[in-house]
Amino acid sequence: MSRKFIVGGNWKCNPATVREANTLLKEWKKALPNVDKSKVDVVICPPALWMSSLNESIEALGMSTCAQNVGKNDAGAFTGEWTASNLQDINISWTLIGHSERRTKYGESDADVAEKVAKCQDAGLNVILCIGETLEEREGGKTDEVNKRQLGAVIPKVKDWDKIVIAYEPVWAIGTGKVATPDQAEETQAAIRAYLKEAAGAAVADKVRIQYGGSVTRDNCAELITKPNIDGFLVGGASLKPTFMDIVSAVG
Ligand code: G3P
Repeated sequence: MSRKFIVGGNWKCNPATVREANTLLKEWKKALPNVDKSKVDVVICPPALWMSSLNESIEALGMSTCAQNVGKNDAGAFTGEWTASNLQDINISWTLIGHSERRTKYGESDADVAEKVAKCQDAGLNVILCIGETLEEREGGKTDEVNKRQLGAVIPKVKDWDKIVIAYEPVWAIGTGKVATPDQAEETQAAIRAYLKEAAGAAVADKVRIQYGGSVTRDNCAELITKPNIDGFLVGGASLKPTFMDIVSAVG
């Protein structure tokens, strides 16, 4: 089965001002006036405060706005949180869940991630589920075990696999400039797909898109995308540059 590529730009807590964000979107518009949606989905994850104000400009580029996180709660007394339904209400139909920075810096457990995915499924929200091992885990030969554990926690919560994308992001490659080699990424992503097949069936394994994330740039993306189990990228630092459009063009 041929899977449509998907590229994400995760801005994290950047840039410093919404004005700079708007300037970046204008630069993108000059570089690539409209994304060919038949070939590639592009989702942009700005800081939460700007999702609403930037949504129209992002959509005008043929892209979708994606939250970086969502609460596992329903509406109620949860100061500082927002719900999956809140995202739908402001016309945001995508969110990341389980980014390694959420897991390591904010203590999100596999169970938290699974609950969040369940809420998004109920609300009909598209999820990019981030998984990946630390350097210590890779060096200890535990890469596949960690990915299986993180993905395995979520599988029982998924009713609609069309709304799930997996982002394999080895923690040691995030923001370090140390990208996984195409063979390393392919080997791990093939193992993730094999596990999906075992746990959720061949049809699911065949259609679910798996992105690679971790120090992706316009210089290394062309080789990575030739690998059969790499269906796109989740890009951090390089998505804050005008040249992010080179990555989108290389994929689409
Ligand atoms: O979610 C994207 C990510 O964590 C990768 O960041 O800066 O290594 O591309 P970066």
